[in-house]
Amino acid sequence: MSTQHEVVLIKGDGIGPEVIGAAQRLIEATGVRIAWIERQAGLEHFEKHGEVLPESTLDALRQHTVAFKGPTATPIGKGHRSVNVQIRQKLNLFAAVRPVRSIAGIPTRYENVEVVIVRENTEGLYSGIEHEVVPGVVESLKIVTEAGSTRIAEFAFKYAETRGRKRVTVFHKANIMKMSDGLFLDCARRVAKQHPSIEYNELIIDNGCMQVVRDPSRFDILLLENLYGDIMSDLCAALVGGLGVVPGANFGDRLAVFESVHGSAPDIAGKGLANPLAAIMSGVMMLNHLNETPAADRIKRAYNAMLAEGKPEERTRDIGGTAGTAQFTDALIKRL
Ligand code: NAI
Repeated sequence: MSTQHEVVLIKGDGIGPEVIGAAQRLIEATGVRIAWIERQAGLEHFEKHGEVLPESTLDALRQHTVAFKGPTATPIGKGHRSVNVQIRQKLNLFAAVRPVRSIAGIPTRYENVEVVIVRENTEGLYSGIEHEVVPGVVESLKIVTEAGSTRIAEFAFKYAETRGRKRVTVFHKANIMKMSDGLFLDCARRVAKQHPSIEYNELIIDNGCMQVVRDPSRFDILLLENLYGDIMSDLCAALVGGLGVVPGANFGDRLAVFESVHGSAPDIAGKGLANPLAAIMSGVMMLNHLNETPAADRIKRAYNAMLAEGKPEERTRDIGGTAGTAQFTDALIKRL
């Protein structure tokens, strides 16, 4: 009998329980044995119990080292700090990896997108250090360290080498933020010199956005500081069919949390309409991380074949179909 893995499960807010439940069903249908250790985090937990990120959730993550997480909601302009940012900072999950790939059968302007976003996850403007200097004037600190910038650059280049990728491109704004983005660039350049087999280049981010939208096939791995990585993830998602089809993972030295790029989608939450594919794909990344490659490949083959056939009843509305979350998941399980 195969090994039983222990994975911390955080269902999250909004569409979180719907898409995470769908991905769990698929993973279980492959026969991989996972003991799900359910822990709480997010806005709904806060409303019931007065805390957004219990220490017991962080402890479980430290102990079991792998987690599968749904999106968690963060109030805008007030209220608690983002649970995601807290988890990433507290557990040093410094690298977000988001593979953005064209999928046959999902019509978009491009058919050849193969970009991987590597986002620094713990620093930059997400330090959460903001204060009012005098009434009407606020200050928000962008923290960039040599250690953090070097660490994420090394991650990106090693990822490129192990995955047979060819090029790392940094998007930056060091013409304006000469010291902070300048330091990020210096570190990336230094690390690039140690990896001569990988091509390295840089673009100012505003130009970078235009170039990505004009011809995404030029790009391979995008190495980005925190805020730029966040924004570029959604921009790139739109090139391949939207947030419903882009998975993600957050890696530290020892820990890994797998979660889609999308948020809690309050506009469709509870309606059974959410596309669970991003969560399922994040589950595939997790299975690979757990060395369950055959199961990961089975799921991947199943959704690739199903989407390529293009039946409206086998795809959710966000990608032009008529299926709800459950119908899509049932159809996919049949394909396994
Ligand atoms: P969002 O990603 O939740 O939604 C943006 C748009 O994409 C909405 O129209 C939504 O319906 C659609 N969408 C997203 N995922 C989808 C799916 N799986 N299937 C079909 N349609 C989908 O972004 P928004 O509205 O900016 O944020 C909502 C909440 O989510 C906020 O509280 C935000 O802080 C949180 N959030 C959490 C993240 C996480 O936990 N990793 C990431 C991004 C946002």
